[in-house]
Amino acid sequence: MTLTDNGTSDGTGGSGGPAPAPEEVGAMYDRFGDLLAMVLGSSALHVGMYVPHGERTPVTSLLDLCDLAQDRQTEYLADILSAGLPPDARLLDIGCGTGGPAIRLAQRTGGRVTGITVSGSQLARCEERLSTAGLAGRVDFAYGNAMRLDHADDSFDAAWSIDCFPHLSDRPAGLREARRVLRPGGHLLMTEFTRRGTADRTEVDAFTRLWTSPPPTSFAKLSDEIEEAGFRVARVQNMTSNVALCGELMYALYNERRDEIEQRFGKEAVAHTDPLMKPFRTFCQHHVDYYLLLLSKPES
Ligand SMILES: C[S@@+](CC[C@H](N)C(=O)[O-])C[C@H]1O[C@@H](n2cnc3c(N)ncnc32)[C@H](O)[C@@H]1O
Repeated sequence: MTLTDNGTSDGTGGSGGPAPAPEEVGAMYDRFGDLLAMVLGSSALHVGMYVPHGERTPVTSLLDLCDLAQDRQTEYLADILSAGLPPDARLLDIGCGTGGPAIRLAQRTGGRVTGITVSGSQLARCEERLSTAGLAGRVDFAYGNAMRLDHADDSFDAAWSIDCFPHLSDRPAGLREARRVLRPGGHLLMTEFTRRGTADRTEVDAFTRLWTSPPPTSFAKLSDEIEEAGFRVARVQNMTSNVALCGELMYALYNERRDEIEQRFGKEAVAHTDPLMKPFRTFCQHHVDYYLLLLSKPES
């Protein structure tokens, strides 16, 4: 998500304006990571799991709800990825945010986790979390670009990428790189936004600017790219209701905390963001689907 202008889009799902470079994405997180925590919660930086499976947990504020939903989503995904892993598994977190999910994954699996991000300030926060968690030696964080990974072929037993692929200017490259670094039989668990229906240009622009992303594509295009990258689809789960609620909560929290945001980030930031919040919300409500995909790298 960004509060800076990264170009325009044609509102049709075509290429629109220029897709952001990793440096731009990183710079956005460097500048506005703390603002994001004010409107999205701070335990992680993904959509969150607002719709529980059969249980209700009381919360007393919207921000508490955000943190609860994010933790719930992290746990849910960790359960899926940890199934069938060897003890001491080597795991990669592609787009690790502020490190909470990577640390949870290491605790949950007993494996060794490497997290990468394009944001320097996120890396600093990752290190803080790591020192508190006492998992040094089993978890490490580094600057890294998902579309050009620094890791050797076949070097991980599994990987996850939670809400990172929406940022990528070249998703096929990200998929190919994830496949390359996984061992044969290894899994990538990823989340991705896709688009339904025809949105108006203002809505698409608001989404791509706030999220620092290219416009979401159709699910069919995503599926084609997954196949072309050489993955098999082991599981697909539609989690769209969560992204709709996440958009609602971000809208509500932004409005509730707008004065505080202006004080911390300046008039220019809110002047830029104010007109984007409403179309961002309606785009999330009516045009964004959200998928969990478990992909496997074939044995041969
Ligand atoms: C919405 S946040 C999600 C963070 C984390 N996965 C979580 O669930 O809390 C997106 C993350 O993807 C990272 N990211 C975006 N583009 C990237 C790229 N090209 N390479 C690596 N990380 C990237 C961002 O820096 C950020 O950490």
